[in-house]
Amino acid sequence: MSEVIANFSAGPSALPKAVRQLIADGLQPTMDASPSLIEVSHRGPAFGEVADALREALTRLMMLDGQHELLLLQGGANQQFAQLPLNFAQQQTPAYLLTGHWGEKALAEAERIGPAVVAPSAADTGYTRLPAIDKVDDQWAYLHYTGNETIHGVQFDQPPDVSTVPLVADLSSEFLSRPYPYTALSGFYAGAQKNLGVAGLTIVGLSKEWLADIPKAQQHSMPKFFDYRAWIESDSMLNTPATFAWWVALEMCRWIENSGGLTTLDAKNRQKAGRVYACIDVSDFYLNPVEHASRSVMNVPFWIHDKTLESEFVKEAERAGLLGLKGHRAVGGLRASLYNAIEDSAVMALVEFMREFERRYG
Ligand SMILES: Cc1ncc(COP(=O)(O)O)c(C=O)c1O
Repeated sequence: MSEVIANFSAGPSALPKAVRQLIADGLQPTMDASPSLIEVSHRGPAFGEVADALREALTRLMMLDGQHELLLLQGGANQQFAQLPLNFAQQQTPAYLLTGHWGEKALAEAERIGPAVVAPSAADTGYTRLPAIDKVDDQWAYLHYTGNETIHGVQFDQPPDVSTVPLVADLSSEFLSRPYPYTALSGFYAGAQKNLGVAGLTIVGLSKEWLADIPKAQQHSMPKFFDYRAWIESDSMLNTPATFAWWVALEMCRWIENSGGLTTLDAKNRQKAGRVYACIDVSDFYLNPVEHASRSVMNVPFWIHDKTLESEFVKEAERAGLLGLKGHRAVGGLRASLYNAIEDSAVMALVEFMREFERRYG
């Protein structure tokens, strides 16, 4: 294999070089043998500075205005699939807007806790477009949507226009990739392993007003570990947090701010995605069936009309230094994940490779 040009993995995914270097430097043994940040107590002063700085940076980047509790949890989005209905759907039925694989998983988990409804689903289109929301029942506990469906490559440009029920978003694969109206949401969650560093940390935001609706009796009937309010009272330290992931997330926040902030990243991310979609759309060789207005800026799934060529594509791409392009096993095909750390030059190299592959095999 030649030198690695880029790692297009969907998550865990590439870190910016500068962040990887900072972390590597921070782990080097020192002359005085002082411990690194991942070798000290999460309750001590050294890690306390990381925790405070991370909360401040996240609050700044999300432009939170004091109306939300910010939790730094473990368990990934999968834990939130269960924790959310455990806390908020004991009295009323939640609704799930389905735009792909992850929404289906969130719904399946809610159904283990109680009844849940689909409202609505784009499954009949093969998840190639966002469905229109024709009916909202104001008795729903909440309406859950997946901001960006990482596998199907379908993304909401803005949150659904719903104001009569609490709106909750799984933002795992687009978190901090662009400015987002976080304060308009009653709840949101995202694993850090795509745009914010490494696996082990889950960012959760919950509106204080909504949290006040959880009946006290219910709070005592669930395991403390799943009770959001117990996590709030313990400053997200009910148990030992994933200190390494917190530290990397802080360095990622600093990198985002030093890179010009979310507006700048958004423009770069859109440019990168535009290059790959343009390459697909002018060709009869590659295919992306998602309607243009619903296409993801973060994850571009694509297929080769002749599917037998896909494994050769992955093999040759790896040899050319372009890693992580195999599609998710649920849908097959190929996928380029274009998170914050992916540079435009890497995307140009990918497009060049795609054109060359088409020229040879098309
Ligand atoms: C949109 C979305 N939701 C949920 C998940 C699951 O996340 P986790 O593995 O952190 O539970 C993923 C993982 O790729 C995802 O992309």
